[in-house]
Amino acid sequence: MTKHDQELRRRAYEEMERKEHIVKMDPYRQHFHLMPPVGLMNDPNGVIHWKGIYHLFFQWQPFHTGHGAKFWGHYSTTDLVNWVWEEIALAPSEWYDKNGCYSGSAVRKDGQLYLFYTGNVRDQDGNRETYQCLAVSDDGRTFEKKGVVARLPEGYTAHFRDPKVWEHDGKWYMVIGAQTENLKGSAVLFISDNLTEWTFLGPITGPGFNGLKDFGYMWECPDLFSLQGHDVLLVSPQGLYAEGIHFQNVNQSGYFVGRLDYDKPEMKHGGFTELDRGFDFYAHQTLEDERGRRIMFAWMGVPGQDETSHPTIENHWIHCMTLPRLLTLSGEKLIQQPLPELKAMRTNEQTIDVKLHQSNEALPVEDVERTEILIENIQTLSGFEFDIRKAARFIFRKDEGLVTLKRVSFDGEKMEERHCHINRLHTLHMFIDASSLEIFINEGEEVFSARYFPSLENHEVTVKSNGDTGMKVSVWALN
Ligand code: FRU
Repeated sequence: MTKHDQELRRRAYEEMERKEHIVKMDPYRQHFHLMPPVGLMNDPNGVIHWKGIYHLFFQWQPFHTGHGAKFWGHYSTTDLVNWVWEEIALAPSEWYDKNGCYSGSAVRKDGQLYLFYTGNVRDQDGNRETYQCLAVSDDGRTFEKKGVVARLPEGYTAHFRDPKVWEHDGKWYMVIGAQTENLKGSAVLFISDNLTEWTFLGPITGPGFNGLKDFGYMWECPDLFSLQGHDVLLVSPQGLYAEGIHFQNVNQSGYFVGRLDYDKPEMKHGGFTELDRGFDFYAHQTLEDERGRRIMFAWMGVPGQDETSHPTIENHWIHCMTLPRLLTLSGEKLIQQPLPELKAMRTNEQTIDVKLHQSNEALPVEDVERTEILIENIQTLSGFEFDIRKAARFIFRKDEGLVTLKRVSFDGEKMEERHCHINRLHTLHMFIDASSLEIFINEGEEVFSARYFPSLENHEVTVKSNGDTGMKVSVWALN
């Protein structure tokens, strides 16, 4: 490790220590979501299950609550519930990553952990350069940088980043989020025999493929994996226009399902489906764990969307991760469910049968800042509505088959909303933390994720119906 690297780490730890007491007293600090100890957290990086330990690295700006020269912070866990803060994994210390160790992924090979990431560089005139870099570890805690392993090919701008690496038939592949020279988003592929020498193969999808014309000006954070006999490409495209209830966020996150022809290489796939219907979800990344499960994490935020209005900024931190979600396919639809491990957090179960007839009822929520609510056996004539701390409302209108999540905007000035359509509603599963909501519909058919900043006096969760509604409600306090 160079002197400069040590100095950057020292300054980051000093920042943590200096601001810890202010960060900790913030009333919107989460109870069961991963957050930065100070500063800004964005994308999950290098998620992997290795030697019985799950690792989640993350984009981290320790010095302020804006973006900039990112570090890789690091958490680990054996049970996906109790996370341990680890030493900083990567600091932006070298010529090839001096303006940020940007997003990337991890693989295991011959008893070592390999991290691939994008070195973000600005030259003297502020022009961007991009390098795909490698760092290797024997113990999963300390990483030795090996430098640049792949460079920008012709035909692309320097918006070329976020390597996700995997093995297939004895070869290594790396998918990268790219922008073509004519400013279109695309996903490109590299191949390697040894993880250190990489050859550019070309685009696997993007405009001109699969009937896509314009599909945004940049694709970030691609992730490609096989699941139940299909190949799935997750990607976060930037620059899509809103279409009715779709693409309402500033930037999107979604997936294509199909098949990657490794020989061509080209991915044949169907249409793009948004992963999450809420306000705050981006830069997803998955891992396959040692039990063969496909698990996804994402940043519970969106770049450039109200980031300067978060009230936590005044206490020197911003953003968090989503809960880990188990991914499965039903036909060509991704189903996302909270991991079964999360049940270990449950305490004090209360179950009630709610019967509404043009009425409302408060749910037996013990601690609204850390609660899980499971709603089953839903029978409703016209629909119903949940009110969460007067700061968010979850509304189901049966005649339109429409689900809506409303929340008070971060500046407190208006109500904002997001929607999705469903055929039938039978189950709702809500995870409510101090400043976030994750609502799983019909066992993961759709999910709404949102940050929210309720006023601290308000603790109630109520449900009301203008017609007749019945449901079984189970509530837990989460530990
Ligand atoms: C997505 C992203 C990535 C980049 C990283 C920088 O949120 O912009 O494309 O690698 O964040 O922090």
